[in-house]
Amino acid sequence: MKKTEAERFLALSEEVLEHPVYDWQQQYYHHQSLTIYDHSLVVAFLAWRIAKTLGLSQKAVIRGGLLHDFFLYDWHVEGRRNPKPLLKKHGFTHADEALLNAEFFFELNDMERDIIATHMFPLNIRPPAYLESILVNAVDTWVTFREFIAGKSGAPHPIIPFVRENRKKKHRGG
Ligand SMILES: [Fe+2]
Ligand SMILES: [Fe+2]
Repeated sequence: MKKTEAERFLALSEEVLEHPVYDWQQQYYHHQSLTIYDHSLVVAFLAWRIAKTLGLSQKAVIRGGLLHDFFLYDWHVEGRRNPKPLLKKHGFTHADEALLNAEFFFELNDMERDIIATHMFPLNIRPPAYLESILVNAVDTWVTFREFIAGKSGAPHPIIPFVRENRKKKHRGG
C-alpha cells in the first residue's frame, strides 16, 4: 500500500469518517476480531482502487463501501437473542437496514443507495443497477471470505492502522 494512495483515500473518506455516528461501528464485531468499522474501511479502500483504474465513480464507491454495513447492531448477539426464520436472518435483511440508517444520517445519491441496497445480492433479490454496485458487492464478498480464512491470527490490512493513526493524530491536533 502506497502512503500517498492511503492519504488520498483518507481525504476522500473524511466526510463520512468525521460524522459522529460513523464511529458507532467500532463497537460491533463483524468477522473474527475485526469490527464493522475495520471491515468497511478495507472494502471501501480496495473497491476504490479498482474504481480508479476502471474509471468508475470513486466518490460513490467510497461512500457506498464505507456505509454498506451500517446496520448498527451486533449480528452475532442479535442472532442468538432473537432467532428468526431463514429469510429474516441478518444475511438477508442487513442491506436494507444499513440503507435505512445511512439515509437517515447522510445525503445519498441513487448510485450510493444502490451500492448499499444490493451489496448482498443474490441473497437480496434486487440486482445491482450500476457497475459500482457490482464492484462493491464483489469486493465485499472477497474481503469477507479473506477475513474468515485469516481468522483471529490474520494481520489486519494496512489501511486500518493507517486510518486509525491519522484520525487519532487529527483529533489530538497534531
Ligand atoms: Fe454486508
Ligand atoms: Fe460487508
